[in-house]
Amino acid sequence: MSSYIIEGGKRLEGTVKISGSKNSSLPIIAATILNAGKTTLYNVPNIQDTQMMFKILETLGAKVEKKNGKIKIDTSKIEKYGIPEDLMHKMRSSVVLAGALLARHKKAIFSYPGGCDIGARPIDLHLKAFEKLGINVNQNHGSIECSAEKIKGEKINLDFPSVGATENAILASVLAEGVTVITNAAREPEIIDLQNFLNKMGAKVIGAGTDEIQIEGVKKLKDVSYNIMPDRIEAGSFLCFIAATKGNAILENVNYTHITPIINKLEEAECEIITDKNTIKIVAPKRLKAIDIKTMPYPGFPTDMQSVFASMLTTAKGTSIIVENIFENRYKYTQELNKMGAKITVEGKSAVIRGTRRLFGANVHSTDLRGGASLVLAGLVAKGTTMVDNIEYILRGYENLDEKLTKLGANIKIEK
Ligand code: UD1
Repeated sequence: MSSYIIEGGKRLEGTVKISGSKNSSLPIIAATILNAGKTTLYNVPNIQDTQMMFKILETLGAKVEKKNGKIKIDTSKIEKYGIPEDLMHKMRSSVVLAGALLARHKKAIFSYPGGCDIGARPIDLHLKAFEKLGINVNQNHGSIECSAEKIKGEKINLDFPSVGATENAILASVLAEGVTVITNAAREPEIIDLQNFLNKMGAKVIGAGTDEIQIEGVKKLKDVSYNIMPDRIEAGSFLCFIAATKGNAILENVNYTHITPIINKLEEAECEIITDKNTIKIVAPKRLKAIDIKTMPYPGFPTDMQSVFASMLTTAKGTSIIVENIFENRYKYTQELNKMGAKITVEGKSAVIRGTRRLFGANVHSTDLRGGASLVLAGLVAKGTTMVDNIEYILRGYENLDEKLTKLGANIKIEK
C-alpha cells in the first residue's frame, strides 16, 4: 500500500489540465464489445479503473493497444461471455460489461461487482431491466447467468434513476429487435457521452440527458474513433483543492455546463468563478463561507463531490450541513478528518460541519476513492505533515494527482 506525504499550507496557483472522464470511459470501453471490430479512443484517463477494464476486455479476447494517449481496441475476436470473478470484484462498473456482452452474444455470466464500500450497492435494477428485455436471469450462489434467444425492445421504467442500470439497459438494447424506451432514466452527462459514442458507431439512441431514452435496435455497427468528455468530478475536486488553499488558478479541458451545481455552491461559499468555453478560472476568498448541500441525482449536486466539499468546508466560517441522499455509507472519511482537527458530527444521512480556522497534519487512512480525495484536500490545507495511506483507492479515479497538484505549487509526494 502506498501513501501520499503532504506538507500543507501552500496556496494553489497556476493552470491544471483536467483528464478524460472516468465514469464516461468505463461504459464506453464496455460498449466497444458491441461492434465486432476496431475502436480508437482518445482522452481515456490512465487510472487503475480503466486499466482494470482493459484487462477484463483482454481476458474476454480483445486486443488493446495503448500509444501516446490513444487507445486502440480490437474486439473482433471476443468469444467469451464470462467475466472472471476476481476481476469483477475489483471494480463496481465492471457490471456494465453484462449489457454489452448480452448485446453481442445474448449471453453473459458474471458475479456481484466490487468497488468502493460506500453502501450496499445492489444491482437489482440492472437485472430487472434485462428481464424486461426478454433476458433470463438466473442467480446461483453469487453467480449470475443471463441469456436470451432474442433481445426484444420494451418499455423499462427504472424505480430509481440509477446511472449504471440506465447504461446497462441502453447497451443491452442497441442491437435488440424493436424499440426500447427507458423512463426515469439517469440524466448524467456520462450517459450523453455514451449515447454520442454509440450513435457514432451506428446505433440509434435519442433522449440521453433527459429522463426518457429511446433506443431503436440496429443490426450492425461500425468502427469509429471517439474523444471522451472531460471528468467533471476531477474538475470539481480541483476547484475545491484550489478554493480550500485560498488559491487562484485555471482549469483547462473542462465543460462548465456539466458542473453547474458545483459552481453554484462554490459561488455561495464566496469563490469567484469565471467560465469560458473549455476553461474555468477560480479565485478563492480569504475565508470560505459555510454552505448547505444535499446530494441528488443529476442535475442535482453530485454525491461524488460530497466528501471533497465537506473537507473544504471544515475550515469555512460558520456551520455547514450536508445531506447524503444517494449512498447510505458515505461518511467514513469524516472520522479521519476529525483526527486532523475537523469538527464533523454525522447523524444518519446528515453531517454537521462546524468550521474551524485550522486543520493539523496527521496520519490518515483512505476508505474509498472520493473519501481519499477529501483527505488529500485536508492535507493541502493543514499545518504540518499529513500522511494519507491506502492511496490505491485514490489512484483508481485521479490521473497523476500528485503531479498535477505539484504543478499548482503543492508539496505532495508518493511513498511506496
Ligand atoms: C455511478 C458512478 C458513481 C456515482 C453514482 C451516483 C460510474 C462508474 N459510477 O455509480 O461514481 O457515485 O453513479 O451518481 O459511473 N441502486 C439500487 N439498485 C441498483 C442500482 C443502484 O438500489 O440496481 C441504488 C444504489 O445503491 C445507490 C443509487 O441507486 O443508492 C445510485 O446508484 P447508481 O446511480 O446505480 O450508481 P452507479 O451506477 O453504481
